[in-house]
Amino acid sequence: MTGQPLPGFRDFFPKEHSALRSIFQAWREASRRSGFSEYEGPELESLDLYKEKSGDEIVGQLYHFKDKGDREVALRPEMTPTFARMVASQHRNYRKPIKWFSVPRLFRYERPQRGRHREHYQWNCDVVGEKSAAAEAELISTLCLGLSLLGLGPKDVVVKISDRSWWDSFLAKHGVGEKEKPDVLRILDRMEGSTPEQRKEKLGVLAGPVEDAWEGRGGDSPALMEVRKGVEALGYGEWCETDLRVVRGLAYYTGVVFEVHDRSGKLRAVAGGGRYDDLLKKLGGEDLPATGFGMGDAVLAELLREKNIQSVEPSAAEIFVVAEAGEKAMGLALVGQLRRGGFCADYDPGAGKLGKQLELAEAKGARWALLVGRESAEGKFGLKELATRRQVEVRWSKGPDGNICLEPNPGEWAKVVGS
Ligand code: HAM
Repeated sequence: MTGQPLPGFRDFFPKEHSALRSIFQAWREASRRSGFSEYEGPELESLDLYKEKSGDEIVGQLYHFKDKGDREVALRPEMTPTFARMVASQHRNYRKPIKWFSVPRLFRYERPQRGRHREHYQWNCDVVGEKSAAAEAELISTLCLGLSLLGLGPKDVVVKISDRSWWDSFLAKHGVGEKEKPDVLRILDRMEGSTPEQRKEKLGVLAGPVEDAWEGRGGDSPALMEVRKGVEALGYGEWCETDLRVVRGLAYYTGVVFEVHDRSGKLRAVAGGGRYDDLLKKLGGEDLPATGFGMGDAVLAELLREKNIQSVEPSAAEIFVVAEAGEKAMGLALVGQLRRGGFCADYDPGAGKLGKQLELAEAKGARWALLVGRESAEGKFGLKELATRRQVEVRWSKGPDGNICLEPNPGEWAKVVGS
């Protein structure tokens, strides 16, 4: 036993978990404000679901095995196939466009490195049943809202928008057949930052025209321009750039694709997505247009650290009840009642000396210590604000329902101690 998780897997101790929850909160809030409904699917799927749909890269990274019923199964490496399977089977029961989101934990056997692990959480938003660029505009503005709720803006990140169908026509025009296309797209996907010599070596005669396309000399994509107009109308124009270098590694994309990168270009993509109009049909469903994106927690957390954005939730223990040996029952009654009343209340179950209880209160980051001592028999508790050490008296009495009434009540304590 090493005390360490498996390579590429992460332990989330409470502080790290609190940072993770802040990310989840921003994702859920942005989804909610933009009219997406949350769904969830199984962590384990049939291996076949990924074999043809996701493309070679992801299939090579699958955690797969035979279950006890001799089925070939895989831990989900991405959510899109599950989402498409679910929508294909039930779409008749839902009004279009379907706008759903999810925050699954995903598993890919990748080489662990900065921002890349063998598991990660990924915010997925997808729109089904909308052919127009309004769907992409909706998605891009939602992801920008999510990032802005975390304190990031267009100076920190850029949404690079491209068009896979533009590349399809480009490759057809240059004589690349359907069979070779996935390989060429995969090479293009990895060409970012390459030298002209490397491009010549990998792409041969295509190197020159590819370079022209990258520099914007290869002609426009009307679909991409429509998306940019839509995003602009929703107020996120300055977050976006056209960049045909983006082709996306996954096999199922058919139209406009996009990626979110940090402006400094130091990190890998924070998010990626695009249109996948054929996937639902391939899964035996109806021919429904679809588009979506995935944003991972790991690169995002790296970026927030780089930008010095602390997103840790406040300590859980708001009020710490400190009781003298003879007042334990009163202390527990208070803890229970405060919790039922909506406050975060904690106490020392070992209930040692008062000093020790106060030390624990401070270590837990509590704001208030409610001191239950001998004066409680006279209807009084002490109230201490731990950071300022200011102390005042709180009166208590038993209400007609048997509850303990505090005067002033906790909502007014800050005013009473003058902070
Ligand atoms: P993806 O580009 O493979 O797309 O992943 C999206 C994001 O998930 C990446 O930009 C990255 O932030 C994060 N991510 C991916 N792999 C890892 C990893 N090993 N460790 C940490 N973070 C990672 C998809 O998965 C598509 N299914 C997204 C989508 C949804 N397209 C349409 N709808």
